[in-house]
Amino acid sequence: MTEEEYLSFIQPYEDALNNIQVRIDVLNKDYRRKQLNYPIHHVQYRIKQKESIENKLIKCGNDTTTDAARNCLTDIGGIRVICYFVRDIYGIVDLLRKQTDIVVIKESDYIRTPKGNGYRSYHIVFGVPVYHTDGMEYYPVEVQLRTMSMDLWASMEHRICYKGEKKDEAAAEFINYSAALKQMEEEMEGFLSD
Ligand code: GTP
Ligand code: MG
Repeated sequence: MTEEEYLSFIQPYEDALNNIQVRIDVLNKDYRRKQLNYPIHHVQYRIKQKESIENKLIKCGNDTTTDAARNCLTDIGGIRVICYFVRDIYGIVDLLRKQTDIVVIKESDYIRTPKGNGYRSYHIVFGVPVYHTDGMEYYPVEVQLRTMSMDLWASMEHRICYKGEKKDEAAAEFINYSAALKQMEEEMEGFLSD
């Protein structure tokens, strides 16, 4: 795809991403207004770069066209919601799920069932309606929800375990770190008064 094709292709994904971002922001503000302990520490978001779309398509054995990207990728728009506690994650997922104008395309609960390497997070892809002059279409936005300690783990694992001489040695330790962080998280959550 050309640069020009890329820029026009990603526009509705950006609109869908902004839409979800506003919904999350509204929920967080509402929690504060009601003086409930606010659940979100911070939010990060990104639109997948052209190179990264093309690399993922090649890895899946596809052409690097915008049509292939539309058909195969659900993480062109991505939002990461960093929460305080695990209960906050499930709370936000429930509230988003109740919003009947967006649909759930897929989800993976890597908190209940962590990946073999210790990765923990909740992934949910929403289809968000985007209205254009010629009608409406759903666009996917991948929402990853994690606690601060899951985010620490994932950032360090990404940095340390992908390459380097000691990556195998590190990978074995990262399984232990994941369990240790989970235990610490549960202890801290135990200090909350329901
Ligand atoms: P779903 O798409 O939710 O079914 O998960 P998946 O197993 O297909 O994960 P995928 O490989 O699509 O990864 C989605 C994103 O999750 C990645 O871009 C990372 O941000 C994050 N992620 C998934 N697995 C890992 C992992 O083992 N380590 C780290 N650091 N991040 C991961
Ligand atoms: Mg995936």
